[in-house]
Amino acid sequence: MKEEILNTLKEITKEEIIQIDIPENTLFGDYSSNIAMIMAKKEGKNPYTLAEEIVAKLQGKKNIKLIFEKIEVAGAGFINFYIAKDILLNNLKKVDEKYGNSDLNKGKITIVEYSSPNIAKPFTIGHLRSTIIGDAVANLLEASGWKVFRDNHLGDWGTQFGKMIYAIKTWGNEGKISKLDNPVKELVTLYVKFHEEAEKNINLEDEGRKWFKKLEEADPEAKRIWKRCIDWSFVEFDRIYKSLNVSFSKEFENGRGLGESFFVNRMSGVISELEERKLLKIGKEGAKLVFFEKDKYPPAMIIKKDGTTLYHTRDLATDKYRLEKYNPDLIINEVGSEQTLYFRQLFEMEKLLGWFKEGQRIHLGHGLYRFKEGKMSTRKGNVIWMEDVLKEAIEKATKLGSKGKISKIVAIGALKYNDLKRDPKTEIVFDWNEILNMNGNSGPYLQYTFARTRSVLFKSKSINKVYDAVNINSEEEAILRAIVHFPEVILISSSNYAPNLLCNYLFELASKFNTFYNKHSILTNENESVTSFRLNLTKSVGQIIKNGLNILGIEAPERM
Ligand code: ARG
Repeated sequence: MKEEILNTLKEITKEEIIQIDIPENTLFGDYSSNIAMIMAKKEGKNPYTLAEEIVAKLQGKKNIKLIFEKIEVAGAGFINFYIAKDILLNNLKKVDEKYGNSDLNKGKITIVEYSSPNIAKPFTIGHLRSTIIGDAVANLLEASGWKVFRDNHLGDWGTQFGKMIYAIKTWGNEGKISKLDNPVKELVTLYVKFHEEAEKNINLEDEGRKWFKKLEEADPEAKRIWKRCIDWSFVEFDRIYKSLNVSFSKEFENGRGLGESFFVNRMSGVISELEERKLLKIGKEGAKLVFFEKDKYPPAMIIKKDGTTLYHTRDLATDKYRLEKYNPDLIINEVGSEQTLYFRQLFEMEKLLGWFKEGQRIHLGHGLYRFKEGKMSTRKGNVIWMEDVLKEAIEKATKLGSKGKISKIVAIGALKYNDLKRDPKTEIVFDWNEILNMNGNSGPYLQYTFARTRSVLFKSKSINKVYDAVNINSEEEAILRAIVHFPEVILISSSNYAPNLLCNYLFELASKFNTFYNKHSILTNENESVTSFRLNLTKSVGQIIKNGLNILGIEAPERM
């Protein structure tokens, strides 16, 4: 329907770019265009009169007349479109498991990278945010037709592994670590011990460097211990991903993701490419750096003075590999906002190398989590373990009345939704009351509304398809009008990488349904056709909530 308006307006106005909005309040129609105001400004005309002229022309178009019962000029010259009731009713029949999916971006390839925790370190709340938001964005892109590869850029390389190996060899017991329920806890303890001891003994830093050098030279013992660190970390990571029901593409290390270490041997290609393009400059002490035009960013170091490479070097190698292997139209990194400058430098280098054009590289940053109980610090071992957060969520959901498997679905849904409902850039104050609120804009509220639609349907005999003759009331009409927008909201959320827009929509839809539910009886009423229509409406709302939640990565349980 939006397309219909767009095409007809283009034909009438001869304008190339026309914006069509979905007004927040249906009082202003189902769609609205400011085209008359834009044109009036250009042509020095009165916007209101121009809008009226356009409306008169629109009224003359048969296709438009068929879809819209009213087209109105409002405010300073907005053109508002109201969909006719029979079209709204007809649209209800389109709602099925596929409703919301489109092939608009068919043929386009994207790599969405998310989660990306560090080996031998705790999986932080920041990684949790990245996992939740990245997965939802990947789902949104898939729903709008993209071919999506999901990657986990593990932090499995760097000088800290030298220290880690030394610490394990000196104070650790590999056999014991392997038997632990969460081996990373022990690795963190060993790492903290290394730093404590290093304060007393200056030789330890050298030992660490020595072991990292061995690792780089593929010394069998160094490699073996390093590999064990990865497996130990995955004891926890696998558990977290399983609880969250999140996964990565099989082509990347069988679903583990391509970590930084995968690219260590692929860095020389990047370095020669940078050199060929004369982008590498020698710094004061012999390091090699890329400088940016007019110093718009600080220079990015590619090779240290001692010849070792850095995080940027590995990221360049990663994207070169992705480019050569998948030729993606888009690569998204879902990583905390504290790395914003880092990614700006990276993208600028990739532009200088001619790898990507504007818009093909996206850093989707998320803000910090703040805890009501105070800040957390990883340094001092004052770590929040993800498993404790997940456990606590489940306990709290159980206290609220859900049982067994359902309490887990509710808890995880609540955590995810809490993250997804807001603009990712904003900081979150972690508040259990808000997260598990059954009445507010929360995961449990949507799951509960879905379960309510199911329970109504369970109680009904069967749904009769004939309902066209009903007189719809205003609560029903509001729902019908909202239903039309679901596929458009998916596209908008997807092209803006903004799951929060989908959340807002689902919350609005659920609220409209609950208003209707509280005011009207669905099952017991005088007219069979009315019952049938209301059941269909209920079923469709449930289906849309389910489709939407699934895209967000949230399960919709049949019962709560
Ligand atoms: N492992 C990093 C961290 O925990 C995040 C990696 C982000 N992705 C990237 N391509 N640099 O901070």
